[in-house]
Amino acid sequence: MRTVARMTLTVNGRAWSGEVPDGTTLLDLLRDHATLTGTKYGCGEGQCGSCTVLADDKAVRACLTQASAARAVTTIEGLATGDRLHPVQQAFLDAQAFQCGFCTPGMIMGAVALLARTPRPTDDEIRHALDGHLCRCGTYPRIMRAVRAAGDALARQERRG
Ligand code: FES
Ligand code: FES
Repeated sequence: MRTVARMTLTVNGRAWSGEVPDGTTLLDLLRDHATLTGTKYGCGEGQCGSCTVLADDKAVRACLTQASAARAVTTIEGLATGDRLHPVQQAFLDAQAFQCGFCTPGMIMGAVALLARTPRPTDDEIRHALDGHLCRCGTYPRIMRAVRAAGDALARQERRG
């Protein structure tokens, strides 16, 4: 029988605490216990990127991350400010960089992490950062466009202070 452990972490800036079975992945904690289902379960093996979240500001595959190792997590639900989408979300929307949308939360979180460390990435840097994020609908050209536009929007935001 699996034992249960009490877990406390910060999710989208708020303390979350609850009991989860030992060995629970961060993905299962988010989806099944914290009811944050924006983060998607694709392969469960680190191969598709659909479960990508930020843990301590780094993009991680939540399906491969033990919940017990997580401290501060940001999910797709934590990006917007009130009614205002995050610039990366807005850029994906403007570029229509999705069809079914299943890969989109993970793509966006990967792009947010990339733009935080490389504000004006080259196309190669975008490809490299999103390598391993699979889009079954093949919207890669639009995703590239969206990430470039998001970089521009964030730079404008930065200039405005
Ligand atoms: S579900 Fe985590 S990488 Fe596919
Ligand atoms: S938009 Fe369908 S998997 Fe990417």
